[in-house]
Amino acid sequence: MSRLKAWLNARFPASRLWSEHLSHYYAPKNFNVLYFFGSLALLVLFNQLVTGIWLAMSYTPTAAGAFASIEYIMRDVDYGWLIRYLHSTGASAVFIVVYLHMFRSLLYGSYQKPRELVWVFGMLLYLLLMAEAFMGYLLPWGQMSYWGAQVIIALFGAIPVVGEDLAQWIRGDYLISGITLNRFFALHVIALPLLLVGLVVLHILALHEVGSNNPLGVDIRKSLDETGRPLDGIPFHPYYTVKDLMGVAVFLFIFCSVVFFFPEGGGYFLERSNFEIADPLKTPEHIAPVWYFTPFYAMLRAVPDKLAGIMIMGAAVAVLFVVPWLDRSPVKSMRFKGWMSRLALLLFCMAFVALGVLGVLPPTSERIFLSRLATVLYFGYFVFMPFYTRVERVGLVPERVVR
Ligand code: HEM
Repeated sequence: MSRLKAWLNARFPASRLWSEHLSHYYAPKNFNVLYFFGSLALLVLFNQLVTGIWLAMSYTPTAAGAFASIEYIMRDVDYGWLIRYLHSTGASAVFIVVYLHMFRSLLYGSYQKPRELVWVFGMLLYLLLMAEAFMGYLLPWGQMSYWGAQVIIALFGAIPVVGEDLAQWIRGDYLISGITLNRFFALHVIALPLLLVGLVVLHILALHEVGSNNPLGVDIRKSLDETGRPLDGIPFHPYYTVKDLMGVAVFLFIFCSVVFFFPEGGGYFLERSNFEIADPLKTPEHIAPVWYFTPFYAMLRAVPDKLAGIMIMGAAVAVLFVVPWLDRSPVKSMRFKGWMSRLALLLFCMAFVALGVLGVLPPTSERIFLSRLATVLYFGYFVFMPFYTRVERVGLVPERVVR
């Protein structure tokens, strides 16, 4: 074994990479449960990649064959139902995990200097994940696949001058057709997964360059022992690899319970009308995207003008990119920030969840009003951030990690 190791190391930096990123990567010793969601994000992404490859083995990317091939996977392919449910429920799991991962970052100011790039790579991942999920949803060629894509792509038509041409260019046709299905398949199985994996590598490399933040926001690289190791750090391997395994076990327990006993998530993970084959001549009564898009969808519906709605929706995602530069607080963690930051984050989260719920429901005048209110609260969090993070009184951050 040691000769093999020496042989390999003479040709490839295997031991150096292992040491730099695992056995000698010093992570703060005070990670809490919210820190499970980074490794869980890796796990759910891996699950999507593997189950996706197996689905692609039996799936037919044509308008004539797609829906039937999904039925074939569900009924005839050995364990096809399991592979499909792992992938379809897995898509919702990705977003649950990623939303909690982002919430952790907002809570502990993990986007603040020097981790701005970690956050920006994270946001690019989020954008790509949304594109990946959107394209994947067309593939079963059900009613909601078809009409969901129809509604979203038609939005591009509202852009002045180039809109209609752009929408047609994306579809490759005058309306959603087999051509659209084919290109979405190519992007969903090859292009976007490649980019996603590449970005995950960049995300983690950027993080390991500056070191992990922690629930206190204490910079552990400031207090080193005589050998230069952080006094409040512990090697990622074996300490956090073992700890993360515990998170993985709990997660898999919950995830498998859903996959085996509740795979459609009551119509939220797999929408009911998607069990009907796409029919370009029959518009479903109520078109709603899958739950992870509904906060943005609710904003779109809250604005009477189509173009303005699209701009608001775009701005809602775009503004997240600049959070590191909006937060002017001298402290990172919410534990030391003042009441204004705490209230702002609370209202922001409530608004996001409310928009998510409102986006699922058919619009009524009261719901539109509530969506508008929640949209204002959502943007208020960002717009006033430079102000409230600067003026509020903050706590004294300890020099070292203390309980
Ligand atoms: C496929 C998606 C993603 C994967 C696989 C992923 C993976 C990871 C991993 C493994 C870590 C280190 C462990 C940890 O701190 O929890 C991490 C840290 C981090 N991620 Fe992500 N991430 C993803 C998406 C995102 C998104 C969407 C954001 C935010 C926009 C984000 C922001 C961060 C930040 C700020 C850190 C540093 C946290 C700290 O040091 O406290 N990540 N990510």
